[in-house]
Amino acid sequence: MRKGVFITIEGGDGAGKSTLIEKLSNTMLQRGSSIMVTREPGGIPIAEQIRNVILDTGNTKMDARTEALLYAAARRQHLMEKVVPALEHGEFVLCDRFVDSSLAYQGYARGIGMEDVWSINQFAIQDIMPDLTIYIDVSPEEGLARINKAEVREINRLDLEKLSFHEKVREGYMKLLQQFPDRIVLVNGEQSPELVFADVLLAIDQRFAGFYATDVKY
Ligand code: TMP
Repeated sequence: MRKGVFITIEGGDGAGKSTLIEKLSNTMLQRGSSIMVTREPGGIPIAEQIRNVILDTGNTKMDARTEALLYAAARRQHLMEKVVPALEHGEFVLCDRFVDSSLAYQGYARGIGMEDVWSINQFAIQDIMPDLTIYIDVSPEEGLARINKAEVREINRLDLEKLSFHEKVREGYMKLLQQFPDRIVLVNGEQSPELVFADVLLAIDQRFAGFYATDVKY
């Protein structure tokens, strides 16, 4: 049975998720909650190996459906090996990306279709969905500029896509926001990192403050 809370963080490339997740994790730890931070694709050795195959800039021949299946396979293993046990144990699970990434990137931006991508993911996740998803919204121009300035991390195969691909990714997320208004919250990622963090923490506390018994101070 699921006793914990499952929160996912989404956004285009260069949205600043990593910095945000680090701050969130520190805050939750200070509050004494039992938190597990993880990421997709990856988080466990098998899924990290799949990640390396997907993101390798040399794998230029990769077919879009192969890519979608590899993300779904990594997702399945990560869920079974790490996320589900943590949720059953009552932990606060903070995951950098989940199924919405596949819907926006492979389903919408690659043009496979969100429904087809949803169906292979349904096979992988068997209705295990986040309690809350935070979408950090940054324009693709800003996101790619941050990556190119190496402020964020190394460039991977998906970063090499044209600006138009990243614009479609954003459109895909906008569709998901319309489709799941109760689950997904949009936060403006072009504000200062402090304001982004404050907005995200507020969204989490509004829903789950009772989950960790603390005085919540801002
Ligand atoms: P990251 O840079 O946030 O770690 O994500 C790696 C890349 O993988 C990023 O470009 C987004 C992409 N991605 C997908 O295209 N589909 C997915 O399902 C996931 C989880 C990530």
